Amino acid sequence: MTSPAFQQALDALRAYRAHAPGDMRKAFADDPDRFARFSLADGDLLLDWSKCAVDEKAMRLLASLAEAAGVAARRDAMFSGEKINITENRAVLHTALRNPPGSSVVLDGVDVMPDVQAVLDAMDRFARAVRDGSATGATGKPITDIVNIGIGGSDLGPAMATLALAPYHDGPRAHYVSNVDGAHIHDTLKELDPETTLFIVASKTFTTIETMTNAATARRWIERALGAQAVGRHFAAVSTALDKVAAFGIVPDRVFGFWDWVGGRYSMWSAIGLPVMIAVGPERFRELLAGAHEMDRHFATAPLLENIPIVMGLVGYWHRVVCNYPARAVIPYDQRLARLPAYLQQLDMESNGKSVTIDGLPVSTPTGPLVWGEPGTNGQHAFFQLLHQGTDIIPVEFLAAAEGHEPDLRNHHDLLLANCLAQSEALMKGRTLEEARSQMRAKGGSAEEIEEIAPHRVFSGNRPSITILYRMLDPRTLGRIIALYEHRVFVEAQLFGINAFDQWGVELGKELATALQPVVEGKKDAAGSDASTAGLVAHIHRLRQG
Ligand code: F6P
Repeated sequence: MTSPAFQQALDALRAYRAHAPGDMRKAFADDPDRFARFSLADGDLLLDWSKCAVDEKAMRLLASLAEAAGVAARRDAMFSGEKINITENRAVLHTALRNPPGSSVVLDGVDVMPDVQAVLDAMDRFARAVRDGSATGATGKPITDIVNIGIGGSDLGPAMATLALAPYHDGPRAHYVSNVDGAHIHDTLKELDPETTLFIVASKTFTTIETMTNAATARRWIERALGAQAVGRHFAAVSTALDKVAAFGIVPDRVFGFWDWVGGRYSMWSAIGLPVMIAVGPERFRELLAGAHEMDRHFATAPLLENIPIVMGLVGYWHRVVCNYPARAVIPYDQRLARLPAYLQQLDMESNGKSVTIDGLPVSTPTGPLVWGEPGTNGQHAFFQLLHQGTDIIPVEFLAAAEGHEPDLRNHHDLLLANCLAQSEALMKGRTLEEARSQMRAKGGSAEEIEEIAPHRVFSGNRPSITILYRMLDPRTLGRIIALYEHRVFVEAQLFGINAFDQWGVELGKELATALQPVVEGKKDAAGSDASTAGLVAHIHRLRQG
């Protein structure tokens, strides 16, 4: 239930917004220090939210809201291993996975860190053996390709990180198969040689139907080419369900465990990151963990309004609940972060797409926004039209590196950055009717033409964006960025008053799919299904008959 103090703080914030100045063009004109006032840096990572229509009073009111929601106390409870995921009676300790050696986190009277370090060391040994060719396939050839079979949190994190860290990729090629659509595994395997391919079956539960179906297909592929005895040399697994992995037939020294206190969408730091470690090497993987740990320390210790994840969460809450904006776009001006929006969709929407509070009561405010995006500059030539002139306001989150990894292509990078900055400036400044008219006049437009066309060239402006800038997309920086987003999602969840760590909303579809499988196969009739579903199944059967 919302506490009276929180309700009071929210009412004050809403009342303030109703009369707040809110015009960013004017705010920048009036205050030359606006950027300094509304940006924060932690080392070379900078968050700029000066192009959001907040002022110092709004930030103070948001900070009161965070205090009333007990954000700092909830954060401390998470770090210390309290079972804050109450619907599953679990601790939430993905942060422990990136703790440095020698630290300790006690859960139910037991320090979890020795196990964490032991798995990391086992991954390290295995990754080195695959990379140096000593862990060969069954015919003695070194592994040239790894295929991660997993979905959701067992796919999106490592797939995103592998692409992000492409400049550091010096191990075997890495492929990711997630979709149960046979096209995915078919198109992946058709390029590969069974003798030199290693599969990593990644599934926290080891029951997910997509992963189990793809893993069975991969096993048949190996058996057909190399015989059943070859399976042990061509499979590894990552799971919390070690009994189920053993039943699948994966040899114990190739099984890497993790724990129920690591949520799927928070698991790329665990053994789920094994394909990344094989691709970029254990040292780089540890740098990724160290970067995330740096952000953890910042989140755990920086004061409220100097705390980057907290500020990002407060600004997110301002947009979602106070301004009622339904979505947020994540636009990395960093091609290697192309999978970041998909990764964040799970992180944010599976965490905060909830309608009941932590006490099981209906929420009284909107919760998590729709998260979407694509890299810039490509998005500019696709959906930016709507961001600039559409009828909905969609806050944008830009990410960009000051430096690329291609020094000889510096001109590309400068152009990329100029575009990124130009878009946030255009969203904020817009273009008035008078500006549109005078621009057309300057280009020699006729009076008639100007009157007709100028309204189409007006941009309302005052559209919010934040920018996250960093020096270069290296493993440490990637770790910091992902941990930043994890903590931001956490902060928003505390403000929404919801549990960010369960995902009951994905269950119903899974149950219905299981029930519908025999109906689609034609082994059962569609009795009990609604008329649309029954009609669609009948149509599929007709289409299959030709
Ligand atoms: O369907 C949702 C989900 O449970 C996610 O939360 C999870 O990341 C994904 O499925 C995969 O689950 P698993 O790792 O158990 O196969």
